[in-house]
Amino acid sequence: MLVTRHLDGVPASLVRLSVQLGVDACVSSCNTSGNLYPDPTTVNKIVDIRLVSCARICFPRSGFSSICIDMNSDSSSFKGQTVLVTGAAQGLGKASSFAFGRRGARVAMVDLNELLLNETVAELRNQGGVECTGIVANIAEAGAPQAIVESTMKHFGSLNVLVNNAAVSSVEALLDVTESEWDKVFAVNVKALFFLLQAAARVMKTAGGGRIINVSSPGTRMTLTNYTSYATSKAAVDYITRTAAANLGPYGITVNAIAPGRMDTPMQRITEESNAAAMGVDLKSYIQSRTVDIPMRRRTDPEEVAEGIVWLATQAASYVTANRLNISGGLEID
Ligand SMILES: NC(=O)c1ccc[n+]([C@@H]2O[C@H](COP(=O)([O-])OP(=O)(O)OC[C@H]3O[C@@H](n4cnc5c(N)ncnc54)[C@H](O)[C@@H]3O)[C@@H](O)[C@H]2O)c1
Repeated sequence: MLVTRHLDGVPASLVRLSVQLGVDACVSSCNTSGNLYPDPTTVNKIVDIRLVSCARICFPRSGFSSICIDMNSDSSSFKGQTVLVTGAAQGLGKASSFAFGRRGARVAMVDLNELLLNETVAELRNQGGVECTGIVANIAEAGAPQAIVESTMKHFGSLNVLVNNAAVSSVEALLDVTESEWDKVFAVNVKALFFLLQAAARVMKTAGGGRIINVSSPGTRMTLTNYTSYATSKAAVDYITRTAAANLGPYGITVNAIAPGRMDTPMQRITEESNAAAMGVDLKSYIQSRTVDIPMRRRTDPEEVAEGIVWLATQAASYVTANRLNISGGLEID
């Protein structure tokens, strides 16, 4: 099946596509509701579709993944797309929300820290009128993932990209891990992440495609003594990414993970302060000791990592799935 977009001599209100189909298919989804084109298209047909605004048109094919055409000439624009980001009040979630918002996306931002979330949403909205909304929720609570996706759909009417970012860290040696700490880490980092992915994927399947990016950690492939439950939970995130990619590929949904290196965020600062105190060293020399083993010889910041998340959601990455993108300055070893 081949779908080509024609630009020459086509009125601005129309999208003209040549559709060469081996089987009957129909344009099933558009990112703006009310723009559906339900008529079947047949072999070697040129179709004109009238669109008000639409980011992507998808042609589902039974037994195969959808073929999608991006309507934006700028492939890094997210105009007309909805992005859901968890843990959006600060750190990487905030940077990702801003990176998508700057590129025209509507952003649904989730966090349990209501005060900080409201501040962050207001800050983003002030950046040239980005369309964004805050959803205050503890993603680990029963039913929260489904409610978050429903709330996003109610507010924006679509969901194209999920950034599964919220997580909690825990610094403890294997012999000190408690059952309650283990449960807390897994409830947020694994269970909530999985059910958010599942709820979002159901919506994306109906829409004919989507992008899911899970945030992992280089720690899963390192030999660490102090991050037992945290690194184990992120290893589960890597596996969820692979099995989700295998299950959801036929529906045009890509699923990838990113593994940020040592990022300067509130989470990292808390960890560094507690590690430095436990070792009896001052914070500055502790941080220095944690850059000498990074090939790039510096920590990263959330804005640098957010660019990788955005890339995985662009048209340029349309055939990238089941992958993990390490944005770690070369820190990790495979
Ligand atoms: N900071 C690093 O160096 C580093 C390194 C590797 C991976 N990561 C990963 O990057 C992601 C972001 O980390 P960060 O450093 O920005 O963290 P952060 O702690 O600075 O921010 C996380 C945000 O998630 C929110 N959150 C936590 N639990 C929640 C819950 N149950 N429900 C809703 N919101 C919740 C917090 O309120 C906070 O706003 C995480 O998945 C983390 O594991 C971070």
